[in-house]
Amino acid sequence: MKPATNGVLNELPSSKLSSTVTDSALNESNESENFDTSKVSIELMGIDDLADVFHLGEILFTSGSTPILYRTWDAYEVTGAFQTNPDTSYVARDDQGRLAGFGLGTIIEKDTAWTYGYVTWLGIHPDWQGKQVGERLMAAMEHRMALDGVRMFLVDTSADNTGAIRFFDKMGYGSREEHLYLWKTLRGDAETRQRHTRERSEELEP
Ligand SMILES: CC(C)(COP(=O)(O)OP(=O)(O)OC[C@H]1O[C@@H](n2cnc3c(N)ncnc32)[C@H](O)[C@@H]1OP(=O)(O)O)[C@@H](O)C(=O)NCCC(=O)NCCS
Repeated sequence: MKPATNGVLNELPSSKLSSTVTDSALNESNESENFDTSKVSIELMGIDDLADVFHLGEILFTSGSTPILYRTWDAYEVTGAFQTNPDTSYVARDDQGRLAGFGLGTIIEKDTAWTYGYVTWLGIHPDWQGKQVGERLMAAMEHRMALDGVRMFLVDTSADNTGAIRFFDKMGYGSREEHLYLWKTLRGDAETRQRHTRERSEELEP
């Protein structure tokens, strides 16, 4: 179950995947927060990134391509990640300062020996897909999580998002568990819903 502040309370079957954080995640990662290459650098998400991240999500999580993710993506996902997970949420920017991608992660503390990491959202700009930006964002999050004592890192996506599933497979998230979500639409007051949407959008205004 995802924490209340994250967004992918998927309403359809999803694939849950996990990977145990190993020493190699620590060894292969750079100690600094910046994974410089000639084109893209990975950095912690800052307040100036919030609007760009939200808008990239709107491009990626559309009703046509990712209907489930689309339904749960909103401004609050971004501001919530910034407020509650400032150390585990990253952006990738190219050498022109344009946003190439983002990865929003969170740590789930349990009353057990295990601490879990969780990717709430991962999105790469279409221009940058297939160029290892996602891989590097995952490496940054895994590295941070491992330093914070996370032993298992969880990801999930809808069952029909085959590209993302292959990506996570490639990243080593091979253990999977099918999970079925069931849903019903709650009838509510349209005016209240519109006010909520407006208030959340206003949170992104500078
Ligand atoms: C899924 C996603 C995060 C992958 O990021 P990416 O930067 O394009 O992926 P990378 O270039 O780092 O890929 C690393 C490896 O994953 C695999 N992979 C990535 N995307 C793939 C795809 N669409 N189909 C098959 N394999 C894929 C490849 O094996 C790739 O290695 P290779 O380039 O050596 O062949 C990105 O396509 C995306 O943002 N999709 C839309 C949003 C989404 O679905 N997010 C995930 C759920 S929140």
